[in-house]
Amino acid sequence: MARRQIVTWNSEETIACGREIGARLKAPVLILLSGELGAGKTTLTKGIVSGFGAAPEDEVTSPTFTLVHKYGQGVPVYHVDLYRVEDARDFSTLGIEDIFREDAVVLIEWAEKFALPSDWSVFRIHLEHVSPDARRVTIEEGGDARKDV
Ligand SMILES: Nc1ncnc2c1ncn2[C@@H]1O[C@H](COP(=O)(O)OP(=O)(O)OP(=O)(O)O)[C@@H](O)[C@H]1O
Ligand SMILES: [Mg+2]
Repeated sequence: MARRQIVTWNSEETIACGREIGARLKAPVLILLSGELGAGKTTLTKGIVSGFGAAPEDEVTSPTFTLVHKYGQGVPVYHVDLYRVEDARDFSTLGIEDIFREDAVVLIEWAEKFALPSDWSVFRIHLEHVSPDARRVTIEEGGDARKDV
């Protein structure tokens, strides 16, 4: 399993880091984003979605209320935020199992709350505050989502 860590000093650098990740993704792939509120999960997702070529970064907004956003015309990119999803019943209404039947890129914020029905290859990305404008981004590539929970 490959693991690397970088520190970004502003949100632009986090977006640039995401672009690099997005540019080398091959679907199907699952990206689990962890880190406290405001750590930069959605900011990094802007870069990943644009680096993959699914949408410009300013079109990528937090799916806080809508829970699932979809980008892209060819290979779809789904961005899911499970923060407000309270229980397994709510989770089951999101259609995540159907998404995992597609050939897609799936990014999930707060994924640690639920067991994910997927055996896709996984990137685990953790973001931490270092200072108000700096974040430590830890990227682990490889492994299986089912081992997480
Ligand atoms: N180095 C940095 N990287 C990312 N975001 C930064 C950085 N410095 C400051 N910020 C700011 O921190 C905030 C990160 O918010 P973002 O919505 O990406 O976090 P999040 O982890 O998705 O939060 P939530 O759990 O609420 O969804 C933004 O307002 C962004 O401008
Ligand atoms: Mg977010």
